[in-house]
Amino acid sequence: MTIAQAVHDRADAFVRSPHKLLIGGRWIEAAAGETFATVDPATEKVLAEVGRGRAEDVDRAVRAARAAFADGSPWRRMTPSARGRLLWRIGDLLEEHVDELAMLETLDNGKPYTIALGDVRGAADLFRYMAGWPTKIEGATVPISSLAMPGEYLAYTQREPVGVVGQIIPWNYPLLMASWKLAPALACGCTVVLKPAEQTPLTALRLGQLLQEAGLPDGVVNIVTGFGDTGAALTAHADVDKVAFTGSTEVGKKIVEAAAGNLKRLTLELGGKSPIVVHADADLENAAVHAAGAIFYNQGQSCTAGSLLYVHRSVFDDVVGRVAEEAARLKVAPGTDPGADLGPLVSHEQFAKVLGYVDSGRAQGAEVVVGGHRVGDRGFFVEPTVLTNTTPGMSVVREEIFGPVVCAMPFDSLEEIVASANDTRFGLAAGVFTRDLSKAHRTARLLRAGTVWINTTYHVFDAAMPFGGYKESGWGREMGSQVLDNYLETKSVVTAL
Ligand code: NAI
Ligand code: MG
Repeated sequence: MTIAQAVHDRADAFVRSPHKLLIGGRWIEAAAGETFATVDPATEKVLAEVGRGRAEDVDRAVRAARAAFADGSPWRRMTPSARGRLLWRIGDLLEEHVDELAMLETLDNGKPYTIALGDVRGAADLFRYMAGWPTKIEGATVPISSLAMPGEYLAYTQREPVGVVGQIIPWNYPLLMASWKLAPALACGCTVVLKPAEQTPLTALRLGQLLQEAGLPDGVVNIVTGFGDTGAALTAHADVDKVAFTGSTEVGKKIVEAAAGNLKRLTLELGGKSPIVVHADADLENAAVHAAGAIFYNQGQSCTAGSLLYVHRSVFDDVVGRVAEEAARLKVAPGTDPGADLGPLVSHEQFAKVLGYVDSGRAQGAEVVVGGHRVGDRGFFVEPTVLTNTTPGMSVVREEIFGPVVCAMPFDSLEEIVASANDTRFGLAAGVFTRDLSKAHRTARLLRAGTVWINTTYHVFDAAMPFGGYKESGWGREMGSQVLDNYLETKSVVTAL
């Protein structure tokens, strides 16, 4: 594959344009006139300056979202059918601009262009899935048993949008995370203030333009770029009804505290330390290829990254050998190189953190089978890395590394492996490889995780399939019909006939 010059040109044109905040349908500078730089992690050079929103800007955005939510506003008067068609149009616009958006993502985040294309298509798909929902959000009539006037009531429920929603997203799948958040909120009729990650603001801003092109009324989606303090202002704001957050467990806990002020509704999609279990009877080649994909895809910067590889002792050397071969084969290069399997990590901070974990593992006695170093001397490139000789107490085994580093450990029995795999404060995802149907489902049942993949690649996500975590991996589910509950209130209406 080669990437056409026209694709580079379209992305460059957007990169060079001014990057302001979207508030009430207008693109405006931050109130204090501040900006911040977003960096290309492959070159370490500044890509663009972006408006730095602060509490004052958040407040303006919340007021715009509140006005757009007012009774009688164009958004509230839009029929469910029209809202569905609007969501479908957004999906079409994403598809039409797939190349440009993917290239922007590659430049801002570093990820290989081929992976970015998949992200944009996933985003388009989600908008289209959600386009079907506005016409199907229904209440129920309820047969109540009140003795005051038996049989003399009409009681029903109706589902209403929760109101003004604050959405705070991370940098690992910037456009996809924006879409996971926006599409269901809009399907339910909410209005939104979106705070993109400071490392990767560009695709959300381009999406903001496409939302306008699709015909979304002013103020329905507002975008305030900035840092953690901007997110904190949004979570603390007394006129925000709900916050949806994806990011670190550490910040998730701060958000829980901040949300207590007005008891805003909260959904959290947080970190993970996700196991893959390879039983002795698995198709070992299939298991090894998917185990490698589970950790190395997107440079390991996935909340679901399969970072703990548990292999039955009888096939341990075989499987780990194959994963290591795969790691050595993968090409680490700028995301704009069509042959790149891994691009750079997103930032110097993540790069230093990931290499720091590898060093700490080494110091504590882990063996580096393959990888473990920087690639080149410019850009935040890290080799795909396989560690063995790791023990349950090591930080590389306990903590989320969020880079291309997997710890491989042998096990002897199903009971033992389930106990080890569940011995984590997280519970986001898991993988199982075996040819034994009952063992597969038995393992899946015993694992305390929100998603379990059996004999298949990690990262199979679908707009129709709920996604979220047990334990400290979060609260609530995204996607599928279940996500709608996050953005709806239920009202019970009782009438005396
Ligand atoms: P982070 O959790 O600090 O950032 C995520 C988002 O939250 C960003 O938009 C950020 O500006 C915002 N934010 C930061 N502090 C906030 C606050 N007090 N209130 C409201 N919003 C706030 O994640 P960061 O610092 O980028 O990465 C640190 C680690 O977090 C990573 O190494 C990784 O382990 C984990 N992480 C997990 C993600 C996931 O998908 N589960 C995504 C990104 C990071
Ligand atoms: Mg942070």
